[in-house]
Amino acid sequence: MTTATGGSAAGGSSVAPRWHRVCAAADLAEGTAIGTEIEGVPVCVVRSGGAVYAVRDECSHADVMLSQGEAEDGKIECWLHGSQFDLASGVPLSLPAIEPVPTYAVTIDGDDVLVDVTHSNPERG
Ligand code: FES
Repeated sequence: MTTATGGSAAGGSSVAPRWHRVCAAADLAEGTAIGTEIEGVPVCVVRSGGAVYAVRDECSHADVMLSQGEAEDGKIECWLHGSQFDLASGVPLSLPAIEPVPTYAVTIDGDDVLVDVTHSNPERG
């Protein structure tokens, strides 16, 4: 299994990953965003720019689902006011959102897309 698990930052977590299957990798076409819930956390899983990302499925500007937005070039655009978020870091790239959205570890195991909401995407700065 190829893993993208993070949590090893300074003083990092020793908690074992808790992977949850979201969908088949074949069902997550380029530019597709899927909204789901894992351990009570709303999660948006996206394939964009050839990579798969997982971020909290809630815009940091208001309580709307990012999975209903448009994904392109490693970014997702909130459908309500148009803020774009970097999918790797969760950082907003345009107003009105100013706070990042949480990112989560994601991996593909065989044909399964797996997400762990207890670890952040290791690319997040
Ligand atoms: S609710 Fe997402 S930018 Fe306003």
